[in-house]
Amino acid sequence: MKIFLDTANLGEIRRFNEMGLLDGITTNPTLLFREGKDPHDTMRQIASLVRGDVSLEVVSTDYEGMLEEGRRLRSCGNNVVVKVPMTSEGLRACRTLTAEGIPVNVTLVFSPNQAILAAKAGARYVSPFIGRLDDIGQDGMELVETIMEIFAQYEFDTQVLVASVRHPIHVVEAARLGAHVVTLPPKVLDRMLLHPLTDLGLESFLNDWKHLQDSPKP
Ligand code: G3P
Repeated sequence: MKIFLDTANLGEIRRFNEMGLLDGITTNPTLLFREGKDPHDTMRQIASLVRGDVSLEVVSTDYEGMLEEGRRLRSCGNNVVVKVPMTSEGLRACRTLTAEGIPVNVTLVFSPNQAILAAKAGARYVSPFIGRLDDIGQDGMELVETIMEIFAQYEFDTQVLVASVRHPIHVVEAARLGAHVVTLPPKVLDRMLLHPLTDLGLESFLNDWKHLQDSPKP
């Protein structure tokens, strides 16, 4: 399973990149807004920092606008994947951009039917938003399970990119279902690293080593 970071924060991207943990990045207009910087400059920098796929989202809602914007975003780097919304215009743009050799991530997917249509439109990634479904009392992970089951019946090249991840248990569940990618907010990736027994165990090893140095040897 690939791990993407879901952020537009350059510092966080550098930090996890240095750990060798990142297979790619996803961004969206809200994440860029949170950074409060020039979004075009930030998107260019992200594309150059990361070797894997970097999803950059269009804000046009019409077919022609999405094509024009998608082509411009792609000029930020050969690793750029154009993110389009799950609408009829978005699917049309997905088909055209894909035919031009520009990969597409269809975002804001909330049903198996939407995922099927995105795959039929040739998307490289389909992004079910699981946390937002959980928020309204539906089981987001059940959607991932259904999409994985459907995709296994066919020869779609589309990868399931689990988005709107809120906690580490989502990651384990996505991995058990064989999801191709999870995109994680930095705080979730940080939490995946931690276990109190690791900290306690390390502390005790280091203390014992110190005692060994301090104690007289026969
Ligand atoms: O990648 C999509 C993701 O950023 C949405 O997450 O937490 O805004 O539902 P969230």
